[in-house]
This record gives sequence, structure tokens and C-alpha cells, in this order.
Amino acid sequence: MTSAPFRPQFCKSPRVSIIGAGKVGSTLAQRVAEKNLADVVMLDVVKGMPQGLALDLMEARGVERHDRRIVGTNDYEDTAESDIVVITAGRPRKPGMNRDDLIEVNAKIVGEAAQQAIARSPDAILIVVTNPLDVMTYVAWEATGLPSRRVIGMAGILDAARFKTFVAMELGVSIQEINAMVLGDHGNLMVPLARYCTVSGIPLTELMDRPTIDRLVERTRHGGTEIVELMQTGSAYFAPASSICLTIEAILLNQSRIVPAAAYLEGEYGLKDLFLGVPCLLGCGGIEKIIELDLTDEERQAFLASGKLVCEHLEQAKAILGKSS
Ligand code: NAI
Ligand code: 2OP
Repeated sequence: MTSAPFRPQFCKSPRVSIIGAGKVGSTLAQRVAEKNLADVVMLDVVKGMPQGLALDLMEARGVERHDRRIVGTNDYEDTAESDIVVITAGRPRKPGMNRDDLIEVNAKIVGEAAQQAIARSPDAILIVVTNPLDVMTYVAWEATGLPSRRVIGMAGILDAARFKTFVAMELGVSIQEINAMVLGDHGNLMVPLARYCTVSGIPLTELMDRPTIDRLVERTRHGGTEIVELMQTGSAYFAPASSICLTIEAILLNQSRIVPAAAYLEGEYGLKDLFLGVPCLLGCGGIEKIIELDLTDEERQAFLASGKLVCEHLEQAKAILGKSS
């Protein structure tokens, strides 16, 4: 009789579970596996769909030559002992809709999905993606009872990526030279900070006039809508998946990256008891630090207006979930 092989701790591959195997979830699964970051479990309510996608991604290994396992399932038991859980379950926008129009339909889905997944992976870090992002991150945090630093709303990386793209296109320079920071909600009141956008260390304000910067800021604010209006069926998923993947990489590789993310505020920037986009230091503990930037009066007012709107939508979500406070 052969005994079970000895398997030291480092034999355990990290595991990422993705709840919602739609456009964003399945594209993320591909990115995570093909970057060799972690084994992936994709869960969806639709029978057979995540299983089929997982098999397709497994077969791609014959060409891509990575060793990560991808599993598709409809059963939360298969997500057990995940290091990271990502929630992409829910509905995307249709043309003419704001992200906030999704509160009613997505709040229940996200609360239940987060609770079910974290019950099986109580030590995981939770990344929320479903819209409206800042409100859904709060809903997921409340449903799971996780420490707030282990709950991250992903949107700021995407919004900053869009800002960087538009700056690179305008100046005709490599995107590799560009850094950007976007604060606030993942919606029309987000605050792309031109003062903190640099090209090879040169502040954007030295390279462009104010009307050009304002135009790029406006395009960033409506970056998601621009794609929804073009596609007509569903919303963006390539750049969102890349942005979630960067978040996962920062956690699994303990990179101490400073990126914008929706974090639970407990007095930072003068706001309390909401998730909102701020610069965060991401590492293996999740959000290890919130960085408080020195804002001008104009930037601070814009940030506070964004927070106020999120609070209003949060009350709506709480009322829908029957927990109006
Ligand atoms: P999609 O419609 O392609 O995928 C959503 C998936 O969720 C579907 O496969 C659906 O069957 C599944 N689902 C629905 N209810 C479920 C439940 N109770 N349990 C498990 N799975 C369930 O949508 P897509 O494009 O993947 O977008 C997903 C969400 O992410 C949307 O709310 C969208 O607005 C949001 N989003 C957020 C971004 C951000 O920056 N935070 C960026 C892009 C999308
Ligand atoms: C976006 O910004 C839909 O929130 C998503 O593309």
C-alpha cells in the first residue's frame, strides 16, 4: 500500500474564487491562470456555463503551457479555502442606465454571494467588482462581517488606467511613463486628480493646458458609459479584468503597491462609515494603509460631493435589504 505523499505548505497553490463567471469573471480567470498567479474556481448560477468555460481555459493550457487549475462550478463548497474571493456576480449596465440603477437588482445578489463564499473561506481577502461599486462593497462587507481592511472595492485602478490611456493618446507618449490617481466613487462624480498625474515625473499641468486636462478628466469620468454606448450589449471587461488581476497580484505577491481602491473610511478625509476610492497600500493583508493626500479646496469639495452621493445610495441599498438605519 502506498502512503499519501508528503506535501509541504509551499505545495499548496494559492486559490482565487470568482463569483459570477460572466464577461468580467471569465476574462479575469484567464488573466489569473495565464499569469500563473493562482488556481481559479469560477462559480455562477447558470448551470454548465462555468464548467464549460473552465474546461475551455484548461484546454488552452496545451498551448499556453501554464500549470494552474481552473474549475467551474455551481456549488460554493468548491470555493472552500480560497485566499481571495472576487465578486463579479450581478447585472451590468444597459445603454441609458447609470451604475446606480443597478442597486436594487445587485444588492441582494452581492450580499448573498459574499456571505456564501466567505462562510467557506473565512480567511480570504474579498474583492468586490459588481456595480454600483462603492455601495456593493459596503453590502458585501456587512454581509460577511470581515475586518474592513480585508474588503476591497476595485474600480480606481480601472478609472486611473483610463485616465492614463487618454493622456498617452493625447500626448503621443508611451503609457509606461504615466502615473495617475483617481479618488471618489466609481461613477459620474469620481475625482481624477490632474495634479497627481505625471508623465515621466513631470506634472500633467506642465504638459497640457487646462481645457485639454478638463476634457480628458470628463472622458475618464464617463469612460465606462462611453464603452456601454458603443457596445450596446453589456459593459467593459478587458480593462476591468486587468485591473482586478493587478489587485490580486499585489495581494498574492505582497507587493505593497499604492493604488486607488474603495476602502472603508473611519475618519480619513473627514468621512466615516462608507467605502470610497482613496489611495491604498495593498499587500498580503489586503488594504494595509490608507494614504491621506493633501487636497486643494476644489479637490476636497469634489471628493466630499462624491462621498455624499455614495451615502445616499447606501441608504437606498439598506432600505432595499430591509436594514434601513
Ligand atoms: P455579466 O452579465 O457578463 O456577468 C455577470 C454574471 O453574474 C452572469 O454570468 C450571471 O449569471 C452571474 N450571476 C448573476 N446572479 C448570480 C448569483 N446570485 N450568483 C452567482 N452568479 C450570478 O456581467 P459583467 O460584464 O461580467 O459585469 C459584472 C458586474 O461587474 C456588473 O455589475 C458590472 O457593472 C460590474 N463591473 C464593475 C467594474 C468596476 O470597475 N468595478 C468594471 C466592469 C464591470
Ligand atoms: C466600467 O466602468 C461598467 O463600471 C464599469 O466600465
